[in-house]
Amino acid sequence: MDVIFVSPGYPTEMPEFVRGLSMVGARVWGVGDQTAGALPHMAKRHLSGYLQVPNLFDETDVVARVRQWVGRRRVDRVEVLGEFWMVLGARLREALHVAGLTVEETLPFRDKEVMKQRLDAAGIRTPRHCRARTEGEIRAAAEKIGFPLILKPIAGAGSANTHRVEDARRMEAVLPQLRGVAEVSVEEFIDGEEFTFDTLTCHGHIRYHNVAWYRPRPLIARTNEWISPQVIALKNVDQAALRGGVEMGHKVIEALGFRDGFTHMEWYLKADGEVVFGEIGGRPPGARQVDQMNYACDFDAFAEWARIVCWGRFEGRVQRKYNVATIFKRAMGEGRIVRIGGAEQLRKEFGPYLVWENLLPVGSMRRNWLQTLVSDGFWVVRHPELSVCMEMADRVGRDLTLFARGT
Ligand SMILES: Nc1ncnc2c1ncn2[C@@H]1O[C@H](COP(=O)(O)OP(=O)(O)O)[C@@H](O)[C@H]1O
Ligand SMILES: [Mg+2]
Repeated sequence: MDVIFVSPGYPTEMPEFVRGLSMVGARVWGVGDQTAGALPHMAKRHLSGYLQVPNLFDETDVVARVRQWVGRRRVDRVEVLGEFWMVLGARLREALHVAGLTVEETLPFRDKEVMKQRLDAAGIRTPRHCRARTEGEIRAAAEKIGFPLILKPIAGAGSANTHRVEDARRMEAVLPQLRGVAEVSVEEFIDGEEFTFDTLTCHGHIRYHNVAWYRPRPLIARTNEWISPQVIALKNVDQAALRGGVEMGHKVIEALGFRDGFTHMEWYLKADGEVVFGEIGGRPPGARQVDQMNYACDFDAFAEWARIVCWGRFEGRVQRKYNVATIFKRAMGEGRIVRIGGAEQLRKEFGPYLVWENLLPVGSMRRNWLQTLVSDGFWVVRHPELSVCMEMADRVGRDLTLFARGT
């Protein structure tokens, strides 16, 4: 089993997937734009070879280089788990005659309009939506859809350049920011709570699913720097309140004909109970949410993913033991992190329920909070009781503080 894996070193969870592949017996061949020396230790340890390319976004060039590198050797799988390289992965599969999502099949996962058209046809409730290529088309779409509405890039990620617009005047103010975007998705604004529905799917059957709750909604988290955003993987995924979303998730997988691997869906739950589709990626969620699944069930979702894509089998024992909250922290001030406050006290109180501390260390430059989902790092806490888990998460939000100063 020879697997080509695109970008084995970045983002930070990728080495775990490489580990999973090698654990289930595959040889893993990495392709990325980092130098081999810069790869994280775990990736290096589990790779059989590595090809550095100048630019992962130059798909034609990457395909040509990989083809040459592979030569006459046989490749069994091509795996790409980063949103922006999904089409590259599909092109590599086509060029190397490897099974898995083709370019055509990848499109509904990348283009938010094609995605919703396919789901509309399957009777799934999506926000009213339009594709727009010019400011004129955006205005016409707004007329049809009504305010408030959402404007966002048709192939976006991480809430980048996503705007909630209250009225025509606000829209005119926002339009210049979208000038660099070739195509815009205009959507009815859906008010409600926001959840994920993440799956490990094998031969089109969902073998494991995870539901995580965003506190607050990602767009709000991305608009207010003072917030410490939380993602909580829920223990009780079978509760009545989530049933509509879980059922919708099953229908979405079926409608898109997804067969093997991870998917990551987002959906909205309105106050009146109505469930509305948000989006789906043909890949795992980012921001260490797969680690969250492991903390929730004490299993190895990375290896189970690998077993599915390599051997078409899922062997995980899914025991839902904990609610798991990840709390992302943003330093106060600019420049270098000079102090971290509150950690000692929280450690003492949380004891074994604090399972992962992953903040930037004192002395490092803080990150640009608009460009990273993990911000200046995070803590992960878990507890069998949701209310206790939420209390701990809120305490981390309030009492754990990073201070930055100067440059
Ligand atoms: N139609 C909508 N109604 C309400 N909120 C939305 C809508 N579309 C996007 N958002 C907000 O913007 C965020 C980002 O949009 P999304 O479609 O998930 O794109 P991506 O995560 O790929 O950037 C969502 O998580 C949600 O908070
Ligand atoms: Mg999203």
